[in-house]
Amino acid sequence: MLASLKTLLRGDYAVPAFNAYNTETVQAIIQAGEESESPLIIQASESALEYAGLEEFAAYTLQAVKKTRIPVGVHLDHGKNLDTVKRCVKSGFTSIMLDGSSKPFNENVKISLQAKKISGGIPIELEIGALAGKEDYVEEKKARYTSPEEAMRFYRLTKPDALAVSIGNSHGWSEKKLKLNFKLLKEISSEIPTPLVLHGSSGVSDSQIKRAVKLGIRKINMDTQLRKSFTLALKKSLDENSDINPRTHLEKAREAMKKTCIGRIKVCGSGGKAFK
Ligand code: G3H
Ligand code: 13P
Ligand code: ZN
Repeated sequence: MLASLKTLLRGDYAVPAFNAYNTETVQAIIQAGEESESPLIIQASESALEYAGLEEFAAYTLQAVKKTRIPVGVHLDHGKNLDTVKRCVKSGFTSIMLDGSSKPFNENVKISLQAKKISGGIPIELEIGALAGKEDYVEEKKARYTSPEEAMRFYRLTKPDALAVSIGNSHGWSEKKLKLNFKLLKEISSEIPTPLVLHGSSGVSDSQIKRAVKLGIRKINMDTQLRKSFTLALKKSLDENSDINPRTHLEKAREAMKKTCIGRIKVCGSGGKAFK
C-alpha cells in the first residue's frame, strides 16, 4: 500500500530507499519487502525516469505498490529540476527530493522553497552539504561535509520532512570502503528535529550503517550495490545459458537484486516493521 514519507520515517530504525528503473527492479524491491515484512521506499533518479518514462514508471510502480500489503513510498531521488518535481507530483509520487546541495547556500534555500511550493504539501527531502562522487548529472569533485550550524540555519528556513547530510558518505562505490564521521553525525542529529538521510550507502560497511541508524539516520539510499548484483547475475546467466528468451535471464537478475535488498533491510533494522 502507498505510504507517506512522514509516517515511514517515524520509527527508531531506518527505512531502505532502493533505486529502481524498470519492471524487474520494482518487483525485486517489493518482493524483498514482502519477504522481510519491511516498509520501503522505491525511488527513481531523473536519469532513471528519463530512461523509463516518468509517467509510465509512475503508473507501473504505483499500481504495483497499491497491490502489496507492505507500506511503500514512491519517491523522486535527487530532483534538480522543478519541472520534474511538478510532473512527479502530478503522476502520484508520494514524496520528492529536491537536491540543491551543489548550489551556494542561499540558492539552495531558494530552489528548495520553490520545490516545496510546487509539491503542494507532499513530503519533501532536501540536502545540505555535498557528497563526493557522482550525484546524478552533477559531479562533485570534493565532498563538502554538512556543517551543523549551516544545517540548522537551512532547517529553520526550509523545514524539510527529511534532510540528507554529507558525513563521509559518497555515491557510486561498489566496495564498502567509506568512513563515516560519527562525531559530526551526532552533532547534526542532536540539533536537527527532522529525520536524517544517508545517501551513497553502497560504499558504507554494515556495522557503520547500524551505528548511523542508532545516531538518527532514518532513510538509507542504496543503488550501486543493487545494480552490481543485478548485472553480475545477468552476465552469469547469459554466460551459462544460451536461451534467447530475455525473461530467463532477467528473472535471475531480479532474484539476485531481491537478495541484496533483503540483506540491506536487515542492516537497516526495518524487517518485521511493516505491520507494526
Ligand atoms: O544517487 C544517485 C543514484 O545512484 C542515481 O544514479 O542517475 O545513474 O540513476 P542514476
Ligand atoms: P549508492 O549508489 O552509492 O548506493 O547511492 C545511492 C543513492 O544515494 C541514491 O540517492
Ligand atoms: Zn543519492
